[in-house]
Amino acid sequence: MIEPFAAVEVIAAKRDRYELTDPQIDWIISAYTRGVVADEQMSALLMAILLNGMNAREISRWTNAMINSGERMQWSALDRPTADKHSTGGVGDKITLPLAPLVAACGGAVPQLSGRGLGHTGGTLDKMEAIPGWRAELSNEEMLKVLQDCGAVICAAGAGLAPADKKLYALRDVTATVESIPLIASSIMSKKIAEGTSALILDVKTGSGAFMRDPVQAGILARTMVQLGKDAGVTTRALVTAMDVPLGLTAGNALEVRESIEVLAGGGPSDVVELTLLLAREMIEAAGIVGKDPETALKDGSAMDVWRRMVSAQGGDPDAALPMSKFQQDITATSAGRMISMDAMKVGVAAWRLGAGRSRQGEKVQAGAGVELHAKPGEEIVRGQKLMTLHTDESERFSRAVEILDGCIEIVPGGQVKRLPLIVERVEA
Ligand code: URA
Repeated sequence: MIEPFAAVEVIAAKRDRYELTDPQIDWIISAYTRGVVADEQMSALLMAILLNGMNAREISRWTNAMINSGERMQWSALDRPTADKHSTGGVGDKITLPLAPLVAACGGAVPQLSGRGLGHTGGTLDKMEAIPGWRAELSNEEMLKVLQDCGAVICAAGAGLAPADKKLYALRDVTATVESIPLIASSIMSKKIAEGTSALILDVKTGSGAFMRDPVQAGILARTMVQLGKDAGVTTRALVTAMDVPLGLTAGNALEVRESIEVLAGGGPSDVVELTLLLAREMIEAAGIVGKDPETALKDGSAMDVWRRMVSAQGGDPDAALPMSKFQQDITATSAGRMISMDAMKVGVAAWRLGAGRSRQGEKVQAGAGVELHAKPGEEIVRGQKLMTLHTDESERFSRAVEILDGCIEIVPGGQVKRLPLIVERVEA
């Protein structure tokens, strides 16, 4: 096959701040997926995009080219509307776990194709894999069956879904080109649109523990993704939400499953419950689902029933004890006063260093590792009070975790709490 372009021309065009043409974009994505464009050439183009940006037309075309690199799922066999949620990732963000069964209990079908964590943010599949026996890899037929039988499925996105993104994301990760709004927006939306949901709610995290630390940049990312969804005919809305402080009281795989089960049992930390209910209501409204109110579905146990069926359908034992770490170490307050801040990024990195996350793709994670919080900003603290418990299977990991937690918490007598509101902005097309 004679290639219509040379990669070097496309790289030079973006380097010199020209817009890429539609045929150039279609070709570069297809040629990179086919292995015709080398990693070093794509790396140069990604860096040029990170530095010089892409306009709305280029982002939309780039997203479509990534969708067209693979298959598109479709759920027309289902008798309920589909709704999905995607978070840009944060510390202690376990919301998918209670949310998917909750929306199913309210009458929706939730195909939640998820990923594994890399770096300080955890991945939904790593969390679910803490449940003894639970299996993430399903064939398309199995996915449809779990969705039909339970109303929700949480599983790994198959290799056929936006394969261009899989290659590009791995390359971005090692070339410092993750933090680009056009590249993040197209990466997330190509997968979500290919996944075939009819309604999509985006949870765009902002604050120290998020990719987009700056709320203004997070808002731009949210609007970019909502527009891409609208262009593709998917009802898309976004909430920009706080990730300056970890969500809930746990960061780590089994620890977060335990907290999610507490929420499904009608308890759990108030911020996790509030965000779960808000996102559930957004999904229900966007998908036009007529059914039970989410608060009722948490209280009457119907969301928990869906969870148990969903876990069992994928080989998991919903009654099995969750893995516990072999070693624990407490961190206590060295002074008294009001806790005015807690740095989500530091907690995320500590959980990661304890073994909850991976630093290379394919690495094994520890199910029991992570950080358990005993207090959050706004609370009055006494000297010597337990603030955190660190969990790991390898005690030599404690020192590096403790090191990063230095300065994580500020305690000031009578101090003003410094934290973002849970919901920073709502974006609808
Ligand atoms: N999540 C994704 O799927 N892609 C990105 O680029 C960033 C977060």
